[in-house]
Amino acid sequence: MKDSSIYKKRGLKMELFTVGPVACHPKVLDEMNKQMFSHRSVEYRELHRELVGRLEDFLEFDEKVFLFPSSGSGVMETSVRNCVEEKMLCCINGAFGERYDEVAESNGVEVEKLETESGKPLTPEILDEKLNQEPDVEAVSITLNETSIGLLNPLDELSEVVNEHDKLLFVDAVSGMGGTDIKAGEWGLDVCFASSQKCFGVPPGLAVASVSEDALEKSNNMDEKGWYFDLKRYEDYDERKSGTHMTPPIPQILALNKRLEMIEEVGKEQHFQNYKERSQMVREGLEDSGLTLYPEEGYESPTVSCVNAPEEMTGIEVYQGMREKGFELAKGYGDLDITTFRIGNMGHVTEEKIKRMLGALSDVV
Ligand SMILES: Cc1ncc(COP(=O)(O)O)c(C=O)c1O
Repeated sequence: MKDSSIYKKRGLKMELFTVGPVACHPKVLDEMNKQMFSHRSVEYRELHRELVGRLEDFLEFDEKVFLFPSSGSGVMETSVRNCVEEKMLCCINGAFGERYDEVAESNGVEVEKLETESGKPLTPEILDEKLNQEPDVEAVSITLNETSIGLLNPLDELSEVVNEHDKLLFVDAVSGMGGTDIKAGEWGLDVCFASSQKCFGVPPGLAVASVSEDALEKSNNMDEKGWYFDLKRYEDYDERKSGTHMTPPIPQILALNKRLEMIEEVGKEQHFQNYKERSQMVREGLEDSGLTLYPEEGYESPTVSCVNAPEEMTGIEVYQGMREKGFELAKGYGDLDITTFRIGNMGHVTEEKIKRMLGALSDVV
């Protein structure tokens, strides 16, 4: 029979160093290749409870964890619609901080912005100063790992500042959760979310979020939050039915449950150490090829490296050159596509694969 799949037609056999969707472990893909069952069955209830329990442990959180049948941006919108009546502060280091602002404004919320110079982290000092100037914001959004520039913000320190000012804290951890430790309880995070297709190495279609009692209380008093992303409805269905108020993406839920089981086998600390070592390996290889990183030293992301293009080439040329050698990296984001390119090490990326990629990169540049 003729194979009409997109893989055959387009010859999709690249080695992935993308920033999402990323390569998935074969065991994760196998887990998805199962017959379906009802999301109101006893089997689903068990699966739901198991995954939620695993996520609570993973995030060290004993309030609520919800599963969303959307990508991460759906939870961004959820946080705004459920928890902000009038005004919030959006901290912006790049494209995804800007997205939070866009989402908030498109939902009628007044936004105060705190923008850092490109490549620089958000520091506790500037956040504290801004919150002193803007005491009437109800919530603060922070991007844990700004994927567009490969920068990791110091969330443990920043969360202390937000908690001292007694504001709700929304954390876009889309490309950080699963690749770097998050202590959602200890750090007092109110809504902290991620998408399946990033560090967890699961196909797209599922988002997860930790949601605090304070966020739920605020949601309880909100009038116009819609139906689909109503946090109180998530809570109700989670408690009464061990499920969601709509049909959830069961294959992705099976896959994430499997992935977390695999992480538990290795141990969380070792898992994060592996992430660090893989990104370190990428950085050392870049240095050997005479390449430098875009973000300020000390704040480099453990999940994606944003690399300055070499003088004689554009970032797009490096990306294309690598594709010709069978490696799919990521282009620089937006206006940075000429001057940078990105290398993700999220999902199923082995050391051998990194060595092969770095060998090809040194030829290309
Ligand atoms: C930091 C960050 N936030 C938000 C998003 C949007 O996530 P999604 O595409 O899952 O809605 C992305 C996607 O790349 C991201 O990297």
